[in-house]
Amino acid sequence: MPRDVLIRPEGPADHAAIHDCIAMAFDRDDEARLVAALRASRWFIPELSLVAVREGRVVGHVLFSPIEIVHNDRPVADALALAPLAVRPEVQDQGIGSQLARAGLDTCRERGNRLVIVVGHPTYYPRFGFKPAGPFGLECPFEVSDGAFMVCELVAGAVANVRGLVRYPPPFSAF
Ligand SMILES: CC(C)(COP(=O)(O)OP(=O)(O)OC[C@H]1O[C@@H](n2cnc3c(N)ncnc32)[C@H](O)[C@@H]1OP(=O)(O)O)[C@@H](O)C(=O)NCCC(=O)NCCS
Repeated sequence: MPRDVLIRPEGPADHAAIHDCIAMAFDRDDEARLVAALRASRWFIPELSLVAVREGRVVGHVLFSPIEIVHNDRPVADALALAPLAVRPEVQDQGIGSQLARAGLDTCRERGNRLVIVVGHPTYYPRFGFKPAGPFGLECPFEVSDGAFMVCELVAGAVANVRGLVRYPPPFSAF
């Protein structure tokens, strides 16, 4: 039986532990530095930076950031990008990533968001409702492997009539 995990928004005291958690999960610090850069930008939504805490220790983190879908250079829809999702290596495969993803998507839905984009493992994200985004007419601004670019509708039918290129906020360009 997995030990209890609390999912909550990050606080100022969590920054170092979040950095450590992400860097450990990815075995490099690019994604951790991206989170720090986003946190320092106007694109950071504090309630959408969630930590998983077990026995008082940050063991996982997920961030959702605002993005736009643009068509012919004009914004046609607001959405969120899920990036990154990280669980400390020693506690992976215990459902913590799933709890973070589900709690995060619920929070996004509760605050009125309709679409979430992820670039990630094609075998992992469909369990949370993500589907390949290309067939909906959505385009990723950078090259990704087959099936990695996915969209989740938080409201049924939210992706209908939304097509175009995903525009990430500037901090993403540095990574
Ligand atoms: C991917 C990650 C967030 C999953 O978190 P987790 O707490 O280990 O995952 P859960 O326990 O919720 O789910 C376990 C499932 O994830 C799958 N999984 C774990 N890592 C995976 C990967 N790299 N690719 C595909 N699936 C993966 C497991 O195979 C398992 O699948 P199953 O339920 O079908 O057996 C975590 O392994 C991690 O931090 N990995 C390193 C960083 C990373 O790759 N982040 C995601 C970027 S898109």
